[in-house]
Amino acid sequence: MKIAVAREIDEAEPRVAATPDTVKKYVALGAEVAVEPGAGLKSGLLDADYEAVGARVGADAVADADVVLKVKRPEASELARYKKGALVIAIMDPYGNAAALQAIAQAGVSAFAMELMPRITRAQVMDVLSSQANLAGYRAVIESAEAFGRAFPMMMTAAGTVPAAKVFVMGVGVAGLQAIATAKRLGAVVTATDVRPAVKEQVESLGAKFVAVEDEEFKQAETSGGYAKEMSKEYQAKQAALTAEHIKKQDVVITTALIPGRPAPRLVNLDMVKSMKPGSVLVDLAVERGGNVEGVVSGQTAEVGGVKIIGIPNLAGRVAASASSLYAKNLLAFVETLVDKESKAIAVNWDDELVKATALTRDGAVVHPNFQQA
Ligand code: NAI
Repeated sequence: MKIAVAREIDEAEPRVAATPDTVKKYVALGAEVAVEPGAGLKSGLLDADYEAVGARVGADAVADADVVLKVKRPEASELARYKKGALVIAIMDPYGNAAALQAIAQAGVSAFAMELMPRITRAQVMDVLSSQANLAGYRAVIESAEAFGRAFPMMMTAAGTVPAAKVFVMGVGVAGLQAIATAKRLGAVVTATDVRPAVKEQVESLGAKFVAVEDEEFKQAETSGGYAKEMSKEYQAKQAALTAEHIKKQDVVITTALIPGRPAPRLVNLDMVKSMKPGSVLVDLAVERGGNVEGVVSGQTAEVGGVKIIGIPNLAGRVAASASSLYAKNLLAFVETLVDKESKAIAVNWDDELVKATALTRDGAVVHPNFQQA
């Protein structure tokens, strides 16, 4: 059983799919591990660190690998180097990327999308959405504090009082909860909103105030999978009116609202941005899915009337060492389910619900029901 750890070819991706810690565990499982040179460098991990735990470092690491571990979906130039039949495990970003999925299928590899892992107890340890969103939520607050020209905590000094910053978190999933907790730790006065009723209690338990349109539709807004539904036009209008009033008084807005498989909902329009005081900051975590804030530009800080709209893609990558460490453990836990411990060989149970939920391609075809073309 040969496992390869790929170096990400996207220069903007500093994370890596295995750490010396997890490589040690793969070796213990009976795997030969090969690492592409420099794979961990941007996460603070040297080639020598991998070699010290028994990995081989070589430019040909992926060539005969049975399993390729990656962070991002492989591109054509990478696919060309993989063995037919190899298992490729990554964050595949499959929605709206039909051509890329076809290319993966045609390369003859079996691709698994970690972000499609079901949110069941058994798979919690493999939940990359949670491990990465948690860090992204933390980092969003750090970025906002950096861009904000005032202090977050209230300070009573001989020279006068500095008021606490007012932070509003929109969308309280994993990222939003961590954003609330981080902003509270920095001393901000925090409010938060979401369309799922279950969130209210979580927000309050973190010491923040919940602000939302709590009508009949709100009571039904959570799917059985725990995700948000796309809300009706009527609800969105009521939500916008409430948001417009609230946002005027905020210093910092962190948006994290996502709906699986859909573009991000637009929660903040330009009029709302303009209603904020100059010097205020918005950080849009949904920027990669179209953004929650009108005017957000991926990879840039846009300015509207002195208000900054920060659109950093891959915020988890800004805490790359932590993000890699957690992501690598998510992958290890999944790979462990794909290995036969007796024979120390790959033995995929294609009927396992984790495999069925994440397998995108197999034997030259796209096999996931959500992504098969009609
Ligand atoms: P997500 O990343 O899909 O969305 C972020 C948040 O945006 C969600 O809370 C969603 O309700 C909210 N949102 C969507 N549309 C909105 C709108 N129009 N206005 C305001 N907010 C809006 O969500 P995430 O972080 O993946 O979490 C989803 C749920 O899954 C949560 O209940 C979370 O606690 C749960 N979860 C369960 C796990 C498990 O059981 N293993 C692990 C991780 C999360």
